[in-house]
Amino acid sequence: MTNEQAAKVLGIRKFLPWLPRLLRNPFPEMVALAEQEGGLIYLDLLPSQRLLVITDPEWARYLLKDQHQNFSRRTILNPLSDFLGEGLFRSEGALWQQMHTLIKPAFHDRQIQHYYELITQEADSWLNQFTEKGNKEIEVESFSSRLLLSLLLKTQFCATIEYPIEEILQCQLEIIASSSYIQLKKRWLSNQLRSITPGLKPIWRPQLPALDRLDQIITDIRARAKKEQPCFLLAQLEEAATQGTITDRQVRDEMMNLIFAGFDTTAAALAWTLYAAARYPETLPPVMKELASLEGNMPNPTELSKMTETRFFVQESLRMFPPIWALFRVSLQPTHFGNFQLPQGGYSMVSIYGMHHLPSVWGDPWEFRPSRFQPEEFRGKSFAYLPFGHGPRICIGKPLAMVECQLLFLYLLKKGNWKLAENQPPIKIETGIIRKSKNGLKLRYEP
Ligand code: HEM
Repeated sequence: MTNEQAAKVLGIRKFLPWLPRLLRNPFPEMVALAEQEGGLIYLDLLPSQRLLVITDPEWARYLLKDQHQNFSRRTILNPLSDFLGEGLFRSEGALWQQMHTLIKPAFHDRQIQHYYELITQEADSWLNQFTEKGNKEIEVESFSSRLLLSLLLKTQFCATIEYPIEEILQCQLEIIASSSYIQLKKRWLSNQLRSITPGLKPIWRPQLPALDRLDQIITDIRARAKKEQPCFLLAQLEEAATQGTITDRQVRDEMMNLIFAGFDTTAAALAWTLYAAARYPETLPPVMKELASLEGNMPNPTELSKMTETRFFVQESLRMFPPIWALFRVSLQPTHFGNFQLPQGGYSMVSIYGMHHLPSVWGDPWEFRPSRFQPEEFRGKSFAYLPFGHGPRICIGKPLAMVECQLLFLYLLKKGNWKLAENQPPIKIETGIIRKSKNGLKLRYEP
């Protein structure tokens, strides 16, 4: 970054040739756009369609760390406000600080070390379910979302409850789909129609049945956990509510936020890591060597912390296939980016995927090469590598996610070989909140 450099402004005419390219192949074209037009681009399209796109590590540092107090993601998450309430994802200021302090210890290494056994047990149980009828082909995104949801609930809420996993997945899917841009427009239209024709039945229920159901599930979990034994995190939240330092509603909101943020991301990371093992088998031997050194056992926390090749593999997978591909913010006051001033209320996007594939940073970004995470090679790249974000709003669950990904990856490699399925159609990618495949990631599992 040179502080004097201004953002390149792209109006409709200049942006138009990019549009079909971005729609056809959004992720590689994001990188091409940054390479051609620079790491700081202001898309000046329609009055309501303006966006500052950052694909430059130094400007990312500026926004996420140096000037973080000028930016918010609260309004961006407004469509999900009924779901997320005032939990960590949307809260700000004193409430965010209080809840962050209360929740953070649940993701400390001291706490995570208690989950090692459970992580292996759950992996075993879900792998058995998916291979029950001698099935050798596994759609790994759907496998890993069930496994990771189950682990989230059993490590953070209560370990002894049988959870309605399918129902929770379905509810979350419906709630997120209903917050999409098109659905919000439909809701707006339906409200407009009702305001001029008062007799018209609501086309859109303000409260979604899926959200009502998920609320009920949360209430049931809290009641059951009180009778049995709540996990460390839920116990902390319930105690704070009993003492009156937080509201009862806050407990519900934080549980919803963990369901929103705490499993789909890690599930995508695990699925793409397994895919990477199958797609780039030549990069696997260093991991297999570390696995072999355990002589058939699973690693304990000290052993895992020394398994650097396994960590590099997962880190490279998070670089190549980042589950969260961009961070969005709204500016709370006019903010200068060099000569360019982003107005108050202006939208910005830090392109994680773009920065993870910049040739100027990585040299060979399209190569899957875990060794690039060797400390001497990685040095100086920390703001070009943002799978978990950065600054004060960095992912609170990062330590748990990293342990889960590495342990599950090792366990699944120990159980068998993972190869690309012969009938895997060309992989198409969704540009939802999480970067997933549209048509599933099928792998052949050979025990
Ligand atoms: C590989 C897995 C994961 C990835 C890639 C990931 C990614 C991220 C990213 C990029 C952010 C920052 C968003 C922003 O700045 O706008 C974030 C925030 C957050 N993540 Fe994660 N996450 C993962 C796993 C988890 C887990 C396991 C949990 C909890 C169990 C979790 C809970 C949260 C929460 C609560 C926040 C909001 C933190 C705050 O604003 O203070 N995440 N995550």
